[in-house]
Amino acid sequence: MSKKRVGGTAGLVLLMGMLAMWVAPPVPLAQELSGNVLDGKMIYEWHCVRCHGAGGWGDGPQARELRVPPANFHAPAVQMKSDEQLLTSIEFGLVLSPMHGWRGRLTEQEMQDVVAYVHLLAQRGR
Ligand code: HEC
Repeated sequence: MSKKRVGGTAGLVLLMGMLAMWVAPPVPLAQELSGNVLDGKMIYEWHCVRCHGAGGWGDGPQARELRVPPANFHAPAVQMKSDEQLLTSIEFGLVLSPMHGWRGRLTEQEMQDVVAYVHLLAQRGR
């Protein structure tokens, strides 16, 4: 009888512990917000490739028609920018440029994902 009660208490403590972990996950929030490269790749191929090119060199099929060339993600000027700065460019676009803002077309998470993929492209060679 008493043995059973001890087992019950241990079970309850275990359950409370699991519940606490579920309510407050040990993973920090920043990790949740960071982009998913695989989702980013899909978004990039759907929306960005035509100007920026598959490898991110700014040589997409539509690039020739543009007066302002699309950014080359391998260029130091882009590489030096923080995620926040790139997100702002993507969200609001750039003034006097065919790079319009994506706010309203992409969600916050999708923009994070695409930034993660832009970083990956920038690290890849030809
Ligand atoms: C219509 C063509 C076009 C499309 C589509 C396009 N871009 Fe651009 N993008 C540009 C051009 C042009 C520039 C360079 C603008 C400038 O230098 O003024 C640019 C610049 C950028 C930059 C550099 C910003 C900076 O701060 O230096 C990033 C990052 C970027 N684009 C990401 C994206 C992403 C991500 C997508 C898809 C969601 C996308 N672009 C879709 C044309 C395009």
